[in-house]
Amino acid sequence: MRCSTPLVSLGLAAIIALSTTYAHAVDPANGKVLARQCQTCHGINGIAQIPIAPNIAGESQIYLELQLKRFRSGQREHEMMTVVAKNLTDSEIEDLAAWYESIKVTATLPE
Ligand code: HEC
Repeated sequence: MRCSTPLVSLGLAAIIALSTTYAHAVDPANGKVLARQCQTCHGINGIAQIPIAPNIAGESQIYLELQLKRFRSGQREHEMMTVVAKNLTDSEIEDLAAWYESIKVTATLPE
């Protein structure tokens, strides 16, 4: 019995290491489903539907995740986004960011 404790701890450490590595595979398709709750303001395609909302199509995963987490924590505040972000989990934020990042945007300069 005396030797089993370190072995068990090693085993647990390995399981924890594995489960954090594979905790969540980012899934843009799930992000598209989740984006239904964003579409009134940002569109499913990330193009703003109301004048005060920004276009978020094609913004980077890193930037989108950071902003959503800032709204969630209260570090960034907005009456609409604070309400939207407060119930999102980390994996939902990653999926939403992956969906909006995956949208291809082109810019046309004025003549
Ligand atoms: C009721 C309207 C509304 C809904 C619904 C909404 N947003 Fe927003 N969102 C806004 C507004 C308005 C802003 C601009 C906030 C500001 O001025 O700081 C914003 C800002 C953002 C930003 C920051 C963009 C930037 O360029 O900094 C992200 C990212 C974002 N929203 C993602 C989402 C996602 C993802 C959802 C759905 C889970 C969502 N929003 C739902 C209105 C909305």
